[in-house]
Amino acid sequence: MEVLSVENLKVKLEGREVLKGINFSIKYGEKVFITGPNGAGKTTFLETVMGFIPFTGRISFRGKLLKRERDFEEVREKIGYVFQNPDDQLFAPTVEEELAFAPLVKGLKREEVKRIVEITLREFEIEHLREKPTYKLSGGEKRIVSVACVVTMEPEVILLDEPTTGLDRKRWEKLVAFFEKSRSSLVVVTHDTKLMERLGWKRYVMEDGKLCSA
Ligand SMILES: Nc1ncnc2c1ncn2[C@@H]1O[C@H](COP(=O)(O)OP(=O)(O)O)[C@@H](O)[C@H]1O
Ligand SMILES: [Mg+2]
Repeated sequence: MEVLSVENLKVKLEGREVLKGINFSIKYGEKVFITGPNGAGKTTFLETVMGFIPFTGRISFRGKLLKRERDFEEVREKIGYVFQNPDDQLFAPTVEEELAFAPLVKGLKREEVKRIVEITLREFEIEHLREKPTYKLSGGEKRIVSVACVVTMEPEVILLDEPTTGLDRKRWEKLVAFFEKSRSSLVVVTHDTKLMERLGWKRYVMEDGKLCSA
């Protein structure tokens, strides 16, 4: 059963066709990689699925066609997105507040938010960063915090754009452990061959705006 599906997705940016008719689908709990050269359209693809970029074609989530801005807003907490550049994602004064943001917006009670924040801090071994301002984090710390923030939403699908960039060995292993145990569907855009070999998921290749199975 497919959770997310895309048919004949086309995107033009500044008059140039950047996505040239993408077909893609992912099942509940399925985990896949998208790899391919720089400039191929991987980031554009994820951003289009999030509803950030105008497109033609069809994007459906849980069988419902997403057309207008409102449709995307409705599913935004169900589809998590980890940006290629964590600075585009992180905005709260501290790590703790960053992690609390999505659960608060969801309308969860204070104690429940606190519980989720604590579990997530522990899961990613970032308790010591709790009060640190996000702008003072190292590159690797920002990366792991940006993943942790999306996880607090408990999304059904998580799109991650080059999530292992800048991670040291320990954090890399932490992320791999999370990927293995996550029950969400995962779409991981990456160049990290070690990651792809380690996890062995299905691979797609994006090349010049076209997506094919590897
Ligand atoms: N805002 C934009 N305006 C115009 N062209 C863009 C914009 N964003 C990306 N592009 C172009 O779209 C193509 C795909 O970029 P991108 O999706 O970032 O590729 P990838 O993530 O695979 O490296 C590139 O040629 C890039 O220059
Ligand atoms: Mg990219």
